[in-house]
Order: sequence, then structure tokens, then C-alpha cells
Amino acid sequence: MKSFVGLGCIIIFVLGMANANPLDAQSAKPGIKKNGFGTTKDGQSVNLYTLTNRHGVQARITNYGATVVSLLVPDRHGKLADVVLGFDALDGYLAKEPYFGAVVGRYANRIAKGQFTLDGTVYKLVLNNGPNSLHGGTKGFDKQVWNARELGENPPALELTYLSKDGEEGYPGNLKVKVVYALTDSNELKIEYTATTDKDTVLNLTNHSYFNLAGEGDVLKHVVTINADQFTPIDSTLIPTGELRKVEGTPFDFRKPTAIGARINADDEQLKFGNGYDHDFVLNRKGKGPELAARVVEPGSGRVLEVFTTQPGVQFYTGNFLDGTVQGKGGKAYGQRSGFCLETQHFPDSPNHPEFPTTKLKPGETFHETTIFKFSTAP
Ligand code: GLA
Repeated sequence: MKSFVGLGCIIIFVLGMANANPLDAQSAKPGIKKNGFGTTKDGQSVNLYTLTNRHGVQARITNYGATVVSLLVPDRHGKLADVVLGFDALDGYLAKEPYFGAVVGRYANRIAKGQFTLDGTVYKLVLNNGPNSLHGGTKGFDKQVWNARELGENPPALELTYLSKDGEEGYPGNLKVKVVYALTDSNELKIEYTATTDKDTVLNLTNHSYFNLAGEGDVLKHVVTINADQFTPIDSTLIPTGELRKVEGTPFDFRKPTAIGARINADDEQLKFGNGYDHDFVLNRKGKGPELAARVVEPGSGRVLEVFTTQPGVQFYTGNFLDGTVQGKGGKAYGQRSGFCLETQHFPDSPNHPEFPTTKLKPGETFHETTIFKFSTAP
């Protein structure tokens, strides 16, 4: 009998070992770790930085595109899951993009007809999205190798810098961009963007992470709140018309917690143009610091994401263009609505809309924006 009990204990122990997640709270050491992540087609080597906080929450970031590769956060029972879409290896990121996890620029989102006028000069950009320019053009910041510097261990922080040369993708001015990612012990991934220029220019920077707080499946049951009374309606090419429209009485009213799937297929012209949600929300703001933009709860796991930002808008995008052709981590096909983005930013096409908050940056000024993705759990 005794030996049966003993054997049972051994079996349970061995099974327990097999199930132990090497990245769980007990085994992960707080700090920052650097590993190679491969080489780009033009021979530049790229690294992967693992930032771990005291709770075992872990963010992996590569200096290719200043991209968040993975983000491990606990559910209500402490079980970690990777809550962002992406790839296991650099190759996935080098292939055709849906901008998974990257910092996009010089101008995140669309510029109508790839053209704007600044100080009387007309600038023409690359058209890479129908008649428009999207996310900085054919080789935006998401496809550049950034310089990386580890800033410290407490909290683990990584600085990424990039010099976007005068004329790159059609934009004026040498733009020095700095992005700092820090992973705090309050389970926040804090992103700080700064930039300076030597000539008048326009810019709009965001992080293009696709979240799925369940770690798998579609995101239709995620419950979303967006702190916005208005949004910027779009035309059929996803360019804002210039109107600020009240969300009240529309499928864009997320002022009370609402499941993504509740109204996404409603008979609504705006939803048809976006093929779902792909719209900029005008955030209700009181001051200058980071303020709550959105809150998302995944009822199954209890994982909660809160987004705080200094930016005036957030593009809520529900992965409408994902169609299962992209195979992500673990060979998983990413189908439509398998992730959602909350891209904190200035409004799309602002350079052509003087009535929108300005996206102009002049020499001597410093662009400075902060976004915080904070994770917690609900009962
Ligand atoms: C942004 C856009 C979307 C889409 C994705 C990338 O979020 O608003 O329309 O282009 O990027 O696929």
C-alpha cells in the first residue's frame, strides 16, 4: 500500500513538473534579457529583449519595428497567457505585415491620396492602401531596425531610437524618434514616444498590438468600454470626412461596457465601410496627462486591459482584414476578428484637416506622448 502511495506521489510530482510553465511567476526572474532574433534580408542583426516584472508578467520586444512580440499576463487564477498576436520568429515579421505589435510611423493611419500641404509645399507620399497612404508607406517605422539600449532593471525598460531621414517615404525633415518601453510592477506596459525634427514635418506614432485577452479564438465576447462621446466617421476608403459624430444611438457607443460582437454586424454604413470597427474615437479628455481611453474585459479568463494615453484619439480596429492566411505563433491561422487593436493616436488624415488637433512638429519642439497598457483581472 505504502509503495502505491509513494508511486502516486512521484507520478503526481512528475506530471506537475511537466505542466509547470517555465515562464510562470515563480520561475521568471525580474529584469531584462537580450537574445538574438535573427537577421534581416539586408543583413542587419536583430535582437529580442525579454522584460519581466516581479509578478512574472513578461513583455518580449524586438528592435525590428520596435515590435511587441509577446505579452504574458495572468488570468484570474494566475495562469499566464500570451495576449498579443504575432510570430515566433523574425521571418514572420519580415513577410507581409498586418503590423502585429509594431510601432507605426512616420504617420500612423491614413493620409488621403497620400498627399498633404505643409508651409505651402505639397508633399507626396507612397500610396500603399488603395488611393491612400497607410502607416508611413511601404517601408514605415514598423520595417526599420531601431537602435536599442537597455535602460535598467527596475522597472525593466528598453529604449529604441530611429532616425527617419529627410525625404524618407516622402516626409520632410530628419526626424529623431525615441520609444521607451517599461514594464512596471503594477503590470503596466508603459510606452513613451518622443521626437524632434530639423524641418517642419507631420507625425503620428502608435503601437499596433493586436490583443486577444483569452489568448485564442475570436474577440467577439470581449467587453469594451471606450471613453469617447464622439468618433470620426469615414468614407468608403476609411478617410475621416471631417465630421465629429456623437456615438449616442449608434453601434459606436461604447460608453457603457459592450461586447465587441454585440453590434459589429449591425446594418450601419460606417460598419460596412470599416468591415467592422476600424474607426478613430475622439477621447473625452480633461487634462494633459495619461487618461483612461478604454477598458476591455475578457469574461472567460477575467483578464482586463486598461489603456491610458495622452493622445487625443484611439483607433479601435477589430482585425477585420485578418482572413486566416497569416499563420502566427505556433502555426495558428489568424482569422477575422482574432484580435483587436486600440491604437492611441492623433486622428487619421489630420494634415488635411486643420480642424483636427495638429500633427505638425517644428524644429525646437519636442513631440511627447505616453500610452499605458495596464493589465489586471476581474472576478
Ligand atoms: C490599421 C488600419 C486598418 C488596417 C490595419 C492593418 O488599424 O486602420 O484599416 O489597415 O491597420 O491591417
